[in-house]
Amino acid sequence: MSLQARDHKVIWHPFTQAATAPVPLPVVAAKGSWLELADGKRVFDAISSWWTCLSGHSHPAIVAAIADQAARLDHVLFAGCTHPGAVELAERLLEIAPTGMSRVFYSDDGSTAVEVALKLAIQYHAQNGHPGRQRFLALAGGYHGDTIGAMSVGDPVDFSGPFSPLLWPVGRLPVPLVHGDALAGNVDCTAELAELDRTLDRHGDSLAAVIVEPLLQGAGGMRTYAPEFLRQLAKKARERGILLIADEVMTGFGRTGAMFACQHAEITPDLLCIAKGLTGGTLPLAATMAPEWIYERFLGDSARQAFLHGHSFTANPIACAAALANLRVMRDEGLLNKAQALHQWYAQSLPSLLDHPQVHRVRWLGSIGVVELHGHGYHDAAQSTRLQRRCLDRGVLIRPLGPVLYTLPPLTADVGELREVWRVISESLP
Ligand SMILES: Cc1ncc(COP(=O)(O)O)c(C=O)c1O
Repeated sequence: MSLQARDHKVIWHPFTQAATAPVPLPVVAAKGSWLELADGKRVFDAISSWWTCLSGHSHPAIVAAIADQAARLDHVLFAGCTHPGAVELAERLLEIAPTGMSRVFYSDDGSTAVEVALKLAIQYHAQNGHPGRQRFLALAGGYHGDTIGAMSVGDPVDFSGPFSPLLWPVGRLPVPLVHGDALAGNVDCTAELAELDRTLDRHGDSLAAVIVEPLLQGAGGMRTYAPEFLRQLAKKARERGILLIADEVMTGFGRTGAMFACQHAEITPDLLCIAKGLTGGTLPLAATMAPEWIYERFLGDSARQAFLHGHSFTANPIACAAALANLRVMRDEGLLNKAQALHQWYAQSLPSLLDHPQVHRVRWLGSIGVVELHGHGYHDAAQSTRLQRRCLDRGVLIRPLGPVLYTLPPLTADVGELREVWRVISESLP
């Protein structure tokens, strides 16, 4: 029986309507930007396996670090124990994080990093004399994960519908979207900033935190927005004692051409969530970073004042070793420069696609290039599936977000590969 037939009998896939979905790709190996299928065919991973694969698949240095660590210390609980990898990784992360961060709280994935940030914000205010600060502000079009808290702060979408009775009410700000070069544009944000002021005047005292995906909203449609809006939001939140949570789960580790997208806007968040690219995309690991003045509010005689949250695999040593190796690869192979080179290539190449009658808009930021088609809505699955299929037949794996086609390849991908990928995409357009 084929792998797909066996899969069909026993597996329940994520984000998949099994009744209508095409059979899944049987992937048996991966190297660099390429996946290898059971029949030996190679497919370019143009979306970095859900935005995780940063340094190329099965990078030898990361593979060696994982094997070495697994043989020495596979796992140990992280309450009451520590280990060298967790400490060294925290030290490295604090060196590259936006200024002000001094503590690293580990968890497992993007959603848990966000849940931790939301819970920290609430408990911080409660223990800092503001128990009434219990609400969150978020951005329209935002996505922060699939656990209940992360879904609550994300903009409602069809798939969060069944859970709506469980989600808490969250204020949502309109964002001034930018097209073309996300870093070049001077977009007028007057209307959005006026709305922000109105919201803060009305609800400012009850807000614990505002949560943002800095500069680029991923799952919401690879939407880029004005750095000036983010700067003003950060400033106004700070003035009112509202924490700023930067969800860099997708944008972190050089994806946008800076180590963290916050750095493009020169803002310092109060809580920073990272995951996905942290281990180069090899193993699940996440972290929420915080400054000392937040950490200190959790110190005291009572255990109840501590942050009583944790997961079985918190700070898994093998994942920490992978993350440390990934950071070395990023440095040694100049991956930030590579992301900037991809940005330049998009700048030269994507605008010409505007000549295609189906193309509505293009935009790019670091290693992320986006083409938005006219017409069909987010849930015109048939159109997206057809496009995806056409690209796949020609050896390119994409996963359109409705009318939004994008590439977000491993940072090790070279410009020649990307050129070929976009030739395939443009020739596959309807
Ligand atoms: C910005 C952002 N936050 C959080 C998440 C959730 O991460 P995970 O899927 O690892 O739980 C995602 C996932 O795509 C994301 O893009």
